Amino acid sequence: MGRSGGRKPIYLRPTQPIEKRVDDLLRRMTLEEKIGQMCQYSGFSEAHEALVKQGRVGSLLNVTGAKNTERAQKIAVEQSRLGIPLIFGLDVIHGYSTIFPIPLGLASTWNPETVRKASSIAAAEAASEGIHWTFAPMVDIARDPRWGRIAEGAGEDPYLGSAMAQAAVEGFQGRDLADPDTIVACPKHYVAYGAAEGGRDYNTVDVSERVLREVYLPPFKVAIVKAGAGTTMSAFNELNGVPASANRHSLTEILREEWGFKGFVVSDWNAVGELINHGIAGTSAEAAKEAVNAGVDMDMCGNVYQTSLAQLVRDGAVLEEKIDESVRRILTLKLRLRLFERPYVDPERASKALQTKEKLEAALQAARESMVLLKNEGSLLPVKKDIESVAVIGPLADDRNAPLGSWSCRGNPEDVVTVLEGIKSRASPRTKVLYAKGCESEGNSKEEFENAAETAGEAGLAIVVVGEKADMSGEAACRASLNLPGVQEELVETVHETGVPVVEVLMNGRPLSISWSAEHVPAILEAWFSGIRGGFAIADVIFGDCNPGGKLPITFPRAVGQVPIYYSHKNTGRPPSPERWTSKYLDAPWTPLFPFGHGLSYTQFEYSDLHITLKRRGKAGKVEVSLTVENIGGCQGDEVVQLYLRDLVASIGRPVKELKGFKRITLKPGERRTVSFALAWQDLSFLNREMQWVVEPGTFRVMIGSSSEDIRLSDSFEV
Ligand code: NOJ
Repeated sequence: MGRSGGRKPIYLRPTQPIEKRVDDLLRRMTLEEKIGQMCQYSGFSEAHEALVKQGRVGSLLNVTGAKNTERAQKIAVEQSRLGIPLIFGLDVIHGYSTIFPIPLGLASTWNPETVRKASSIAAAEAASEGIHWTFAPMVDIARDPRWGRIAEGAGEDPYLGSAMAQAAVEGFQGRDLADPDTIVACPKHYVAYGAAEGGRDYNTVDVSERVLREVYLPPFKVAIVKAGAGTTMSAFNELNGVPASANRHSLTEILREEWGFKGFVVSDWNAVGELINHGIAGTSAEAAKEAVNAGVDMDMCGNVYQTSLAQLVRDGAVLEEKIDESVRRILTLKLRLRLFERPYVDPERASKALQTKEKLEAALQAARESMVLLKNEGSLLPVKKDIESVAVIGPLADDRNAPLGSWSCRGNPEDVVTVLEGIKSRASPRTKVLYAKGCESEGNSKEEFENAAETAGEAGLAIVVVGEKADMSGEAACRASLNLPGVQEELVETVHETGVPVVEVLMNGRPLSISWSAEHVPAILEAWFSGIRGGFAIADVIFGDCNPGGKLPITFPRAVGQVPIYYSHKNTGRPPSPERWTSKYLDAPWTPLFPFGHGLSYTQFEYSDLHITLKRRGKAGKVEVSLTVENIGGCQGDEVVQLYLRDLVASIGRPVKELKGFKRITLKPGERRTVSFALAWQDLSFLNREMQWVVEPGTFRVMIGSSSEDIRLSDSFEV
C-alpha cells in the first residue's frame, strides 16, 4: 500500500486537479495493474478477491447490498498496492428497490420529467448501498416487438427516444457525479442492437450508414453529448459485418472523433470473448486486440483482457499508450465520483434511503402517467366506485412478479401491489370484489375457465388481467408470436361470452397483437409492467381517480406478419390503397392495430389556431409553431400534443411523418392552453446523398396530432 508514511502521493490529494492525480497514479502503475483497471467481473468469489488484492480488477458488477460492496471495497482500498477503489456496476434499469414501470412504460408517459425523477430516485437508492454505476438507460431504438428487449427501451422513435435518454442520464447523474446521491449512466447497447434480424436477440444487424445515423445513433448522441453520460456499452451484435465490440468506425470514429466522448466504453458481457464466435478472431488474444484497438476500454466478464493484453503489449500488437488512454478514462471517472475520498457506503444513508414515502409516491405517479387507454367503447370506463360487484379475473390479476418486469434489481415481489389488491383498496367498502385466476399465463389447461365464467357472471363488471410473465421480455426473451401466450385469449373470449362487460388490462413488455380483443372487448387498458405501485395505479384509472394520459411509444401490429411496422415509414412508389398493385398484404390490413402516439382519455380535447412562423433561415434557423388546445369534456385530463413533420420533396426519400416535438399538458374542463414548439434548423435536416446534414429548400408539412394517425391540424411552410 502506498498510503502510509510521509506526505500523501498526489493521486490521493483531493485538492489536486483530477488530470494531475490521474497522471501521478498512472506513473506508479505496472502494466498488469493498468490492465486490471480494464477488467470487470461479476460477483465477488475467492478468485476475484485474490485478483482485487493484486490490483487487477477495476470493477465488479452484481455485488449488491451495502455489506457486500463494502467488504469488496475494503479489500481493494486497504489490501491492494495502490489502493484504487473499485467501481461497482449494476443493472439499475427502472428502479433499485422502489421499482417503477419498465422503461417502455415510462416512455408511455411522454413525460421526460417523470423519467428524470424515476432515474434520480433509483440512483439515490442504489448509491446508498454502494453502487456507483448503472448499465442504463437502454436507448436502443426497436421496431420489432418480437425482440424481448423492446421492454427496456423507449420504443420505435429516435426523437422520443432521445428525449427519454437525456432525461434518464440527467436523472441518474444529477448535476455533479461528486454528489453522493448520483451514479454514472451507461447508455447502451452501442449500437443498433435493437435492429437484430428477425427480432432474435444477439442476432446480426445490417443497417445502412444513413439509417444508423438517422435512427439508431441519435439517442446515444443526445445521451452522451448533451446529457454527458460517463460511459457507454459496446453491444453484442455484429454491425454491418464488424461486431459492435470491435467496430472502430462506431467506437472511435463516431464516438470519440466526431462526438468527442471522454468517458469510457465497457463491453457487454463477454462481448469481447464472443468475437471468436463472430468469426473475426481466432483466439482470445486476437479478440482482445480487436476490441481494445477498436475502442473498448473495459472487458465485462470476458477475462480476455486479463489473460491476453499484457502479452499483446509486449509483442507490440497493442501500444501501451492505448492501454494508458483506457486506464486514464476509467481512473478519471473514479476520481469524478470521489471514490478515493469516499470509497465506502455511509451506513446512516443506507438504512434510510430505500422506499421512503416520497419515493413510493413517485412510483405511483409514474405508473399512473404510464397507463395507456387503448379502447373505451361506450365510455365503459371509468367505473363508479360504489359498483355493487366486480370480478377480477386472469393469471396476472394477483401476480406479484409480473409487475416487476425484467431487471427488477433489488425489487421484491412482496412489495408489489397487485391489481386485485389495488381494486380492493380503491373500491367502496360495499363493493363485492370477486376473484378467479382462470388459467396460467402459459400452458393449455382450461380447467378453471368454468369457474372464471361463473365468477364473472356473478358480477356487474369483469376486469380481466392478461399478458406476459415478467421473463417473457427482456434479454434472451424473444417471441415468434405476439399473441397473448397460452390460452389467455380464450379466457377473455369465455368471460366475454357471459355478457358481463369486460375491461381488459394488459401487462406486457412488448406490443401484443390482440386483434380479437380490439374488436370485441369494449375497454382495454395497456398497463405494461407497472412496478410496485402498479396495482393502485390501475385501480385509480379504472375508478376514475386518474384520467389516463399515456400514449404508445410504439406501434401495435395486428399480426406478427406486419412486423416491422412503424409510423415513420417511407411512402414507397405505391403507397397502400385498396388498389390491387400497391404495397400491402392479401390477408391482413396494412394499418396498425394501434398507432404510435395513440392513447385515449376520459375527456376530449379540441385543437385549433395553428400558427407557423419561419423566424430565421440557416444554421441558427427557427420555425415557431403554436396552437390552442381546449378540454371540452367533463373532467380534468392530460393530453400529449404531438408535432409531426414531413419534408415533401427532397433528394432522399423522407418518412411520411417524423415526430419533432411533443408536450404533455394537464387541462381542467373548459380550460384552454396555447402550446408552442420551436423547431430548430436541425429538426428539418437529413443526410443528403453526400451524407451531409442539410436542409433542402422546399415545402414542409406540419401535422399536429393526438396520435400519429389522429392528426387534428396541419399546414405547410416553405424554406
Ligand atoms: C448483458 C446485457 O446485454 C446488458 O444489458 C447488461 O447490462 C449486462 N448483461 C450486465 O448485466
